[in-house]
Amino acid sequence: MQPRRDPPHDSGLAPIAVEYRRSLRDFNTFGLPATATALVRIACDADVRRVLDHHEHGRAPKLVLGGGSNVVLTRDVAGVVLKVEVMGRRLVQESAEGWLVEVGAGENWHDIVAWTLDQGWPGLENLALIPGSVGAAPVQNIGAYGVELKDRFHSLDAVDLVTGRNVTLDTQACHFGYRDSVFKNDLAGKSLIVRVRFWLPRPWQPMLGYLDLERKMAETGDTAPSARTIFDWVCAIRRAKLPDPAEIGNVGSFFKNPVVSPEQCRDIIGRDPEIVHYPLADGSCKLAAGWLIDACGWKGKSVGRAGVYERQALVLVNRGGATGAEVVTLARAIQESVYGRFGIRLEPEPMIL
Ligand code: EPU
Repeated sequence: MQPRRDPPHDSGLAPIAVEYRRSLRDFNTFGLPATATALVRIACDADVRRVLDHHEHGRAPKLVLGGGSNVVLTRDVAGVVLKVEVMGRRLVQESAEGWLVEVGAGENWHDIVAWTLDQGWPGLENLALIPGSVGAAPVQNIGAYGVELKDRFHSLDAVDLVTGRNVTLDTQACHFGYRDSVFKNDLAGKSLIVRVRFWLPRPWQPMLGYLDLERKMAETGDTAPSARTIFDWVCAIRRAKLPDPAEIGNVGSFFKNPVVSPEQCRDIIGRDPEIVHYPLADGSCKLAAGWLIDACGWKGKSVGRAGVYERQALVLVNRGGATGAEVVTLARAIQESVYGRFGIRLEPEPMIL
């Protein structure tokens, strides 16, 4: 369908292209069916202001969509979807202390990790192959193999979805937590991230503490790998246990790894000594949700056309033609059985809409 060009109301700004009744199936990595009443592609900050000035869509509810790798669409989206397509990448500053790199929110995350390495700026290699866009990365503070986005973050620019003003947020203002940030809490639905800046410090230090990477060192005998080697290892590890969304619809880990009190942890270990757990600095303990789900026998199981991935029980997959409702039904069944056996409530990682 051809987008309709609607002039913004008396603003003197260029028209915005609105796609009406737009299917979102290709815009979410789960491949779930849903339709947006209206969709506008955002290529620059001013595009956001054009939407806000629009006579029809200015005040409509707005959903910001990046790479669609962190949403479960259970119904059609009323209001307007803002599809972030702000591109661009540049070195802002280079010094003896490191590199400051700025990237448009619409860029593909993995492409940017590969590009920084190609430029000779290491630091993002442990985060290779995470599906999604650069703008979505701070929202859930993506993390893998011992590194979180917040460890390499400098600041970001966002546009306020009510006032249309630009704001810049530093690490402190983003309130990063485990798969969490201010954008999932106080600022949820209130701003659109347009650019993210990364700080890649010098001298580069490899992050090799994660078990899967230790195994790679032992296997290859390479105990001082380069950033490029770590990148290749992470890609290989992920490809071996996580499904490629281009082939099998999924959103990566479906649940967060639950954090429990020291008492609860002791109790669970007492009953299941082999449980995979990681002690945290404050005495609490993070449990591997994948292990809990696996222990309840869910690996490879399905509810309708939604299933649990054969090689990683933390990942739910679309076996072909699944609906959001089927995914949610499966997720609830998993939550109930984990609660029934371990007394632990699993919390979903993606936004369920
Ligand atoms: N495990 C099982 N059975 C399973 C899955 C896992 O026993 O079916 C055990 C594994 O053997 C391992 C432990 O659970 O001992 C942890 O598994 P894994 O190393 O695969 O990591 P994870 O805790 O399941 C987290 C992140 C991933 C990230 C990896 C590597 C969360 C929710 N998930 O997974 O992030 O790639 O660590 O750092 O924190 C994502 O967020 O989408 C994501 C993929």
